[in-house]
Amino acid sequence: MSQRELEGQVALVTGGSRGIGRAIAEALAEAGAHVAVVARNAAGAEAAAAELPGDGHRGYGCDVASSEAVAETVGAVEADLGPVGILVNNAGITRDNLLLRMKEEDWDAVLDVNLKGAFHTVKAVTKGMMKRRDGVIINVASVVGLMGNAGQANYAASKAGLVGFTKSVARELASRGVRCNAVAPGYIRTDMTADLGDAQAEALQESIPLRRLGDPDDISGVVRFLAGPGARYITGQVLAVDGGMVM
Ligand code: NAI
Repeated sequence: MSQRELEGQVALVTGGSRGIGRAIAEALAEAGAHVAVVARNAAGAEAAAAELPGDGHRGYGCDVASSEAVAETVGAVEADLGPVGILVNNAGITRDNLLLRMKEEDWDAVLDVNLKGAFHTVKAVTKGMMKRRDGVIINVASVVGLMGNAGQANYAASKAGLVGFTKSVARELASRGVRCNAVAPGYIRTDMTADLGDAQAEALQESIPLRRLGDPDDISGVVRFLAGPGARYITGQVLAVDGGMVM
């Protein structure tokens, strides 16, 4: 991997204010990209952008579940930083419960952010990518979308949906020079998984062939690779980054 293989490109990372998204924003900035950090909270997004290495980064508050907010934000990013060449759909939420206790609003909230959010952002950036015949889209799915998980029917469905979305976008846009791939993280230490108790974490570790939970940096390096020239012949793939849970 060359030192700054994404020099001068504009990358938009949703959910880039913390956790996996923040690590992805850092990795893309280290590769030379100007990063638009998008998160629900504008102050959090701006603070995260200000801490990225290099300059030319900006933070934006936006709810990805809203098509209007996404269109407006992408317009602002393109006016401030230039055309978006790399889109990382990382924003995601959980509303876990057993199926019989899961409320319709919990189903809708998770699908609206995790799946429909990606639809909105992809729609907002692809016209420009197709015109320039150049662009990369990376969706952050989950191993749970490949394996299922008791208590996460809404979340697993949203992530499985992202896999189908990824492959369809890849097929539809390949001839226009746009690549679309997904990463499927296993269990990664972030705020999202912070309430795993020690006993639970230990039991989980037993089920992971590499015998440890992942860190955000385990994901960000793979996203950097998929965004760059080393992955120029890869599209429509789902790469599990999970210590070997799914093989
Ligand atoms: P996190 O909870 O630490 O961070 C989530 C980020 O998404 C935050 O920046 C938040 O502002 C943003 N976000 C949430 N709802 C949003 C909305 N409506 N509009 C805009 N931004 C919104 O989560 P974490 O763990 O960093 O997860 C990142 C992604 O990785 C998610 O898509 C998650 O489903 C996925 N993932 C995480 C795993 C883990 O073990 N932590 C495992 C597999 C996938």
